[in-house]
Amino acid sequence: MNPSAKTYRCFFLFVVLAAITAAHAQAPAKPRPANASNPLNDPAVERRVESLLRQMTLAEKVGQTAQYSFGIATGPGTGRADTMDAIGKGQVGSLLNVNTAKQANAFQHAAMEKSRLHIPLLLGLDVIHGFRTTFPVPLGLASTWDPDLVQRTARIAAREAAASNIRWTFSPMVDIARDARWGRIVEGAGEDPFLGEAMARAYVRGYQGARLDSPDSIAACAKHYVGYGAAEGGREYNGVEISEHTLRQYYLPPFKAAAEAGAATYMSAFNSLNGMPASANTFTLTQVLRKEWGFRGLVVSDWTSITELIKHGIANDGPTAAAKAFNAGVDMDMESDLYQKHLAELVHSGRVSQATLDEAVRRILRVKVALGLFEHPYADEAAESAAMLRPDAVELAREAAERSFVLLKNGSPAVDEDGKATANRAAPVLPLSANAGTIALIGPMADNAANMIGSWGGQGKEADVVTLLAALRQRLGESRVKYSKGAEIETASEASIAEAVAAARQVDTVILALGEDAPKMTGEAASRAHPELPGQQQKLLEAVAATGKPVVLLLFTGRPLVIPWAFEHAAAVIEAWFPGVQAGPALVRTLFGESNPGGKLVVSWPRAIGQEPLYYNALNTGRPIEHSDWNQPQTDTKFESRYIDERNSPLFPFGFGLSYTTFSYGATTPNVKGMSARALRQKLSGATLAAATKPGAVIVTCEVSNTGSRAGEEIVQLYVRLEGTSTSQPVRALKGFQRVQLGPGEKKTVRFELGPDAFALWNDQNQYVVEPAKATIWVAPNSQQGTAAALEITE
Ligand code: NOJ
Repeated sequence: MNPSAKTYRCFFLFVVLAAITAAHAQAPAKPRPANASNPLNDPAVERRVESLLRQMTLAEKVGQTAQYSFGIATGPGTGRADTMDAIGKGQVGSLLNVNTAKQANAFQHAAMEKSRLHIPLLLGLDVIHGFRTTFPVPLGLASTWDPDLVQRTARIAAREAAASNIRWTFSPMVDIARDARWGRIVEGAGEDPFLGEAMARAYVRGYQGARLDSPDSIAACAKHYVGYGAAEGGREYNGVEISEHTLRQYYLPPFKAAAEAGAATYMSAFNSLNGMPASANTFTLTQVLRKEWGFRGLVVSDWTSITELIKHGIANDGPTAAAKAFNAGVDMDMESDLYQKHLAELVHSGRVSQATLDEAVRRILRVKVALGLFEHPYADEAAESAAMLRPDAVELAREAAERSFVLLKNGSPAVDEDGKATANRAAPVLPLSANAGTIALIGPMADNAANMIGSWGGQGKEADVVTLLAALRQRLGESRVKYSKGAEIETASEASIAEAVAAARQVDTVILALGEDAPKMTGEAASRAHPELPGQQQKLLEAVAATGKPVVLLLFTGRPLVIPWAFEHAAAVIEAWFPGVQAGPALVRTLFGESNPGGKLVVSWPRAIGQEPLYYNALNTGRPIEHSDWNQPQTDTKFESRYIDERNSPLFPFGFGLSYTTFSYGATTPNVKGMSARALRQKLSGATLAAATKPGAVIVTCEVSNTGSRAGEEIVQLYVRLEGTSTSQPVRALKGFQRVQLGPGEKKTVRFELGPDAFALWNDQNQYVVEPAKATIWVAPNSQQGTAAALEITE
């Protein structure tokens, strides 16, 4: 891909616009300041880096670019085994998969005492959703729509990791993911770039804290740069085709938001992008990341992705693979061992310039200096364990889990799929009343500590987890809870199912805890062509439901599952994701109504796997179906963009989630009927953000009422559609969200302030601009509902 000649102008607009977006995310209850003075731009850091660089030999410079795994392998290839010796010789810049302060300190001692220039190691680990205190998986955290909470979880993760002397995490994963088949959908914030930006900022700010060089801060790593989430067919590591327009409008924004929040590092992805592997992609790594965004930190390759350039077919030998990755902008080699082996020779032969090598080493040293590693390379081993699982961390894990749950069904809906009033409407079964009689708890997830820790466990331990069974017994007493596992995740016997059915017959209510095996079926290398209930769990569900007892189904999954039967027959369904160490208490509080679920989906939930990739912010077609309301019957006119055997719409749309109370939305009301694109553009060129948002900014209000009898929190969403523009724009795009707390019967006027960014787009020249357009705005409970208001953007 070649950048257009106007890229720089577009970059300027993009910087301003994205910054305004940050100011208008509308989400955090208590927004925290970004890392105001980015240490990657600090002249004092730079002086230190230059002074070191001047003293370094070629071999020492090469050493800084090499990263090896210690202990566990998180991929093929083992790297070197002579770790301690190599560190002393200055041949190692970084290690990953070191886990404890004792190990980490030992390696740092070798680097600080034995290597000639006493340059500390950068010690990295996959701290993805907590270190020792495991929080919900990232897809669950994103379902809270609460960046402030996510920032607080990342801060705790940083505090604990840093206590073990891990000062670098390979997180956040900010890949946009539109396909439930892809196992790594669990690691990110779902399908939307606006929410993805908010989550990216939250993680970076949480990990890096107010000061990166504070001993309890760790460097963030925005990954996997870029396009990995669009793996063709949802198949892991597969190639990706994304036009420059789509890349800029949907896939790059969360990465850019991470850079703006000060992320110190990026990871280059495994996939090829438009024929060029991401780990050798000069356009994305140098043109966009360095030149357009001004990123000054380091880029590390994903695990052996440099050596994989050979299998990708763009290098026939190790030296060529190393030269291609290095010259494209990958500064550090994770586990391929190709930089260590070939970089010096590549510099001698001129295939890599001395200046390119110096620049990469500068970036690596810059991160090390900015982290304060030279001043405090060691952690206090005696204080390590006391830093873990502190009460505030455990309390936050419970809060985060409660806020991540998405209530998908509770009784039968008022209207059926054909829009008709539901006959014999079933009353909501949740929350359960405290004196609701006896309960059968059934399923392989009911007492499954290992799976509550999720797909990337960090240092999470099963013993730290309170399971649902433990918490339920504690709440109700042993005698009121009949537990029967019923099935393993992947197997079951007739006898185990029969035992579960017998248990169900003896009680008033059944809670079924079903789901996927977190480490095996979600996360890396876990694509599924049949994302259904694994093993015999569907059979278990059907047998238990046949007893006629009301079934509350709790789903523990890392993706939406295609299980239409379950949604028809369970009385209530909660998507619980993998909730972390406080799974049990959070679920029990939710089941009994002390916590009212308010999470909403950040991925479209498919009816059939053939609908994937499925995402709400799709383009219209020239022949759209007559209407696309998700809960209305679909017309079956022949020559329209539709399936002949399935609806177009998801089973549950992006942004969907129920509550134990109900909310109603008034009209979407903008304060102006129109505005000029020129005026909006002028605001873009305004010197300050405040000036840019004041005159002519669009204020949109909507009255939201709690129409039920319980207090609840509603995630109010604002969507925009633009028509008449130079490029096709999505049928809706999220441009704001707020969590609003409402008591029973209470009403609030929810107010959104939209800056020019809400109306900006990537045009046919790949520039970020505001164009004349017909704009439609919705304030809505999800991506498919809400009343529309029209706005005209004139030239
Ligand atoms: C490979 C994964 O793709 C990446 O996300 C992870 O950070 C590295 N391995 C290191 O474990």
